[in-house]
Amino acid sequence: MTAVALGLPLLRRPTPSGEGRPDVPELVDRFGRIARDLRISLTEKCSLRCTYCMPAEGLPSIPRSQVLSTEEVARLVGIAGTRLGVQEVRFTGGEPLVRPDLVDIVRLSAAAAPGVRLSLTTNGIGLDKKAAVLAAAGLSRVNVSLDTLDREHFRTLTRRDRLPAVLDGIAAAQAAGLAPLKVNAVLMRDTLDDAADLLGWALERGIRLRFIEQMPLDADAAWRRDSMVDAEELLAVLRTRFRLEPHGREDPSAPAEEWLVDGGPATVGIIASVSRSFCGDCDRTRITAEGSVRACLFGDDETDLRSLLRDGSDDEAIAERWRLAMWGKRAGHGIDDESFVRPTRTMGAIGG
Ligand code: 5AD
Ligand code: SF4
Repeated sequence: MTAVALGLPLLRRPTPSGEGRPDVPELVDRFGRIARDLRISLTEKCSLRCTYCMPAEGLPSIPRSQVLSTEEVARLVGIAGTRLGVQEVRFTGGEPLVRPDLVDIVRLSAAAAPGVRLSLTTNGIGLDKKAAVLAAAGLSRVNVSLDTLDREHFRTLTRRDRLPAVLDGIAAAQAAGLAPLKVNAVLMRDTLDDAADLLGWALERGIRLRFIEQMPLDADAAWRRDSMVDAEELLAVLRTRFRLEPHGREDPSAPAEEWLVDGGPATVGIIASVSRSFCGDCDRTRITAEGSVRACLFGDDETDLRSLLRDGSDDEAIAERWRLAMWGKRAGHGIDDESFVRPTRTMGAIGG
């Protein structure tokens, strides 16, 4: 839903003053939303080069001094969990497993924010070696990105021949009890005909599969609304093999609409981020690898927290700047509007 559709004023810039903000500790915004779900990007580096995300040569690397350290990440997680009402933290990238200190990040974050669920969005490469230690460090779940089981299609889409490594990672995560394991598949025309195989494979393993409409966050700027595969088209493909009935959402802020497969109990999720945007129920707050708050995937407003982390500011000062950043969150991205403007950062640089 867009700002215009809601009849709300379009906000061009966040108001740094926090004018009108109620005096509550949570990350509230002007549209009545409360962010309880934190996505924190740990790096822009990745072991794959998915065409819908990265350019072939990868993203320009961020100087190491500008990337948050192990302790800085854990401190932000602690602030989010103990002062801002965040209940769920997801580590993303790029590819978070590329960071050698990932296990320490999880362990320190778990200690800093007791009771907060920690999870990981990963491409699965390297997870075979890390799944058990991550679980022991306090990680509760993983989401693995996998778009096709066809090795050649995988190689073309990700520009790397690493499908076996991803499958090993998934098996290890299941063996380590990182459950429920979710697999996210981005809908692309070249892999659409692989969707039913992917669902059959997921059902056999008790994996929860979710398909995601491709958003215009590819570095190559090749995305076109009229050639994008949408939820309707996917449903038609899946229905050639499975009986699907609408099953609603897991909870109101869950982005995926669930479909009961062959009478259940298993379901498949569809995240129609473009054709049925769910901005009105968004409960996310994001931190970039360099330590800035991004209220939304779209919209280029960022609020730096790293300088506060490094200048001796106390936790409450950091929490307060984070609250003001979220107060400035826009109503929606409006990808489906003619006036939509792509954000300058790509998915690989924001984290999903
Ligand atoms: N559109 C939709 N999803 C994307 N992802 C990466 N780029 C895009 C895009 N352009 C997905 C990844 C992963 C998550 C982090 O976001 O596949 O599941
Ligand atoms: Fe890497 Fe994920 Fe981007 Fe693919 S989508 S290039 S796995 S960050």
